[in-house]
This record gives sequence, structure tokens and C-alpha cells, in this order.
Amino acid sequence: MKIAVSYLSSNNYLDCIKKINESNADFIHVDLCDGKYVNTKNFEIKDTIKLLKNSQKPLNIHLMVANPKKIIKYFKNLNVESITIHNLSNSKKILNYIKKKGYKCGIALNPNENIDLIKDYLNLIDELLIMSVVPGKGGQSFINNTLEKIDNINSIKNSYHFITAIDGGINNETIKLLKDKNIDLVISGSYITNSKDYNETINKLKKI
Ligand code: DX5
Ligand code: ZN
Repeated sequence: MKIAVSYLSSNNYLDCIKKINESNADFIHVDLCDGKYVNTKNFEIKDTIKLLKNSQKPLNIHLMVANPKKIIKYFKNLNVESITIHNLSNSKKILNYIKKKGYKCGIALNPNENIDLIKDYLNLIDELLIMSVVPGKGGQSFINNTLEKIDNINSIKNSYHFITAIDGGINNETIKLLKDKNIDLVISGSYITNSKDYNETINKLKKI
């Protein structure tokens, strides 16, 4: 199980990104909220590029935005591993666009969304991002019925090549719920970024 750390909840993005880069996290999880797809807005694209341009850790980018194409073009000099979008009217086109640019692509499934909604994209994606909180802000509680959804996804996963990632409300307690759930990537924000020693906290999650 790999760990991606989100800096969304931090009140000093620069310092937080530096600490994630110095930690043993596998990825930086880049949460971008546009104030349209979700109510909150947390970035200006030029600032985001400046913040991330020297990142040694690969970027696991999560776009909570209504118009991903407008943003993706700015990522060309960054250390991008994958770009995940939410389900939009033109998801297929955007996923293909991400792939054409040479990045891995992913789609996110909100707590109130069923896997059937995105079934047409499952053979296209590299990552299925299962949201265990409502997208838009960090520090929320893990939604328990996500566990049932993970079981459903696991029952079909073998037919595809995507990895599963879980995002939201992960801490030393909720991580236990994921034991034996076959999750490839765990995203954690506030639990790690509110801690003094990122590595110690990351290791607690990796221990399950
Ligand atoms: C929610 C974001 C998550 C979140 C994770 O909109 O996509 O990545 O920030 O943060 P915590 O771990 O604090 O829920
Ligand atoms: Zn996220």
C-alpha cells in the first residue's frame, strides 16, 4: 500500500510541500478545488505551478474542477504521475486527453455515486479514486458505507488494470477499516499535516 499526502488542509502550502518532499511519502496528492465543481476554491494555477515545480515526489493530482482541460495544459514541466478528474459530461474525452499527454489518468467516485455511473471508463483508467468524504475540504470524517463500495469494486477489479485509491478521513483508526480491502493507494491529509513528525505518522498508516 502506497501513501500520498494532501496539503489541502495546511495553512502554509510551501512549508507543507517541503515537508512532504522530505518525508517517505510515495506521492504528493494535489487537491485543486475551483469553486465551481465544488464550493471551495483553493488555488490560482500560476501559484500552484510555482509551488510544485521543484517537487521531487511524483504528483498525484486530484482535480475537483468543472473544466479540467483549462488546467492540465499548465502541468507540462511538473513531475506528474497521474491526473484524476471527477465524472463530468465529457469525462471520456478528458481522460483520453490526459493519456495523450503521457500521464496516467483516473476518475473519482463521490460518496453518493455508484460504480455503474463510471462503468464506461473503467477500461480506460489507471486509477479509481474512491472518495470517502464529500469532495471540497480536508479534515472531514470517513464515511463508513464506503467500505461496501470497496467490496463491490473489488469484485470486478480483476477484469481491469486500474489501481484503487481511497481519499478522505484517513487516520490511525479509519486505516484499520481498510485492512484486507486490497487498496493500492491511501491518501491522507490533515492526519499527517497536523502532525509534528510526518514520517512517524506515515509509518503508522503503513503498518496495517
Ligand atoms: C477532499 C480531498 C482530500 C482531502 C484529504 O476534498 O480530495 O484529498 O483533502 O484530507 P483529509 O485526510 O484531511 O480528509
Ligand atoms: Zn483529494
